Amino acid sequence: MIFETHAHYDDDRFDGDRDTLLASMPERGIKRIINVGASIASTKTTLALTEKYDFVYAAVGVHPSDVGDLNEETYQWLREQAAWEKTAAIGEIGLDYYWEKEPEVQERQRYWMKRQLELARETGLPVIIHSRDAAADTMEVMRQAHAEEIPGVIHCYSYSKELAQEFVKMGYCIGVGGVVTFKNAKKLKETVEALPLERILLETDCPYMAPEPHRGERNDSSYIPLVAAKIAELKGVTPEEVERITEENARKLFSKVR
Ligand code: NI
Repeated sequence: MIFETHAHYDDDRFDGDRDTLLASMPERGIKRIINVGASIASTKTTLALTEKYDFVYAAVGVHPSDVGDLNEETYQWLREQAAWEKTAAIGEIGLDYYWEKEPEVQERQRYWMKRQLELARETGLPVIIHSRDAAADTMEVMRQAHAEEIPGVIHCYSYSKELAQEFVKMGYCIGVGGVVTFKNAKKLKETVEALPLERILLETDCPYMAPEPHRGERNDSSYIPLVAAKIAELKGVTPEEVERITEENARKLFSKVR
């Protein structure tokens, strides 16, 4: 069975077939899904999905590209949603300097990343961290927030294997998705080779990041076996072992998931 740790099924690219697609997941081996909020609006639509599907759980939080959504009132609202029995994580939170070059806005991203890390600590939930072109500042904010005391995952990991080992030392898991199947994904393949399987989580980030041979198409969780097969090849184990161990990892981290 597969535990999908990062999906966005509330995205409008699923408007045409969301219900049939989601309903088909358990029979395709996808037994648990964490749908991840990225703004206040998508946190609301994420929570609605958890009411409809027993195997869908929520991460509540605001992505760095949407920190304009955050103020004391919406932060308080997020805190209230963390108490919902199917809220399994705070996320996705973090820094994205690829899409945001403005220093003041980057500063605002760091501020709200720190606040949402505090929210995770306070609520006892793990964090899902998004970090793009912001490796040093991500590590800096995490150190300031004593993130080694807050369990979590660096999702859609895109940095070096050395930095991955730093995150692992802080207790973090590394989220691996479709990119690992890309021909030019040398760094991520090296990272997967270097890390213990016990620190890897399977994810899609769908509708984005479809694995080969579907690169560029709309992604969904049924493509995860292609990712598991590539990881198995890199680690010299069977795909079944990858699925089993990464499921255990996910259950350990997202302990509210039944
Ligand atoms: Ni995402």
